[in-house]
Amino acid sequence: MAGKRTFTMIKPDATGAGNSGAIMKMIEEAGFRIVALKKTQLSAALAGKFYEIHKERSFYGELVSYMSSGTIVPMILEKENAVEDFRKLIGATDPKKAAPGTIRALFAKSIDANAIHGSDSDENAEIEGSFFFSQFERF
Ligand code: RTP
Ligand code: MG
Repeated sequence: MAGKRTFTMIKPDATGAGNSGAIMKMIEEAGFRIVALKKTQLSAALAGKFYEIHKERSFYGELVSYMSSGTIVPMILEKENAVEDFRKLIGATDPKKAAPGTIRALFAKSIDANAIHGSDSDENAEIEGSFFFSQFERF
């Protein structure tokens, strides 16, 4: 059965452009409840750890340096079928391929500066949420 929670973070391009509020409004209007929320900046070491799954990929170095270049807004979100529905709301990784009306189609600048992250499975949603939030911050 699909889980009820996913993890997201608004990326440095979107926070820097002042789009955090507009993106959070879209998330809430799509029926997600914000369970946990903060604003922070990752060190390169922590960004590297978060994206460890991609460490063999050609874009890993760029991804880590980009994700530690500015503020991010990590959040845990709740909704029925959360992971799949949220991936639909954000659209494809490359904003040129993202469906019209999706968060990446509206706000992403490039495949690296693509506005927002969304977990790709229930298991990763739990791991990623725990990376940023203690059990006392998730309610
Ligand atoms: P995310 O994890 O950020 O939600 O993105 P995603 O699932 O759509 O894409 P993923 O394959 O997990 O890649 C993580 C992030 O790495 C950057 N990327 N660059 N240059 C490239 O070919 C490339 N491919 C991926 C993107 O910023 C992507 O969001
Ligand atoms: Mg991913």
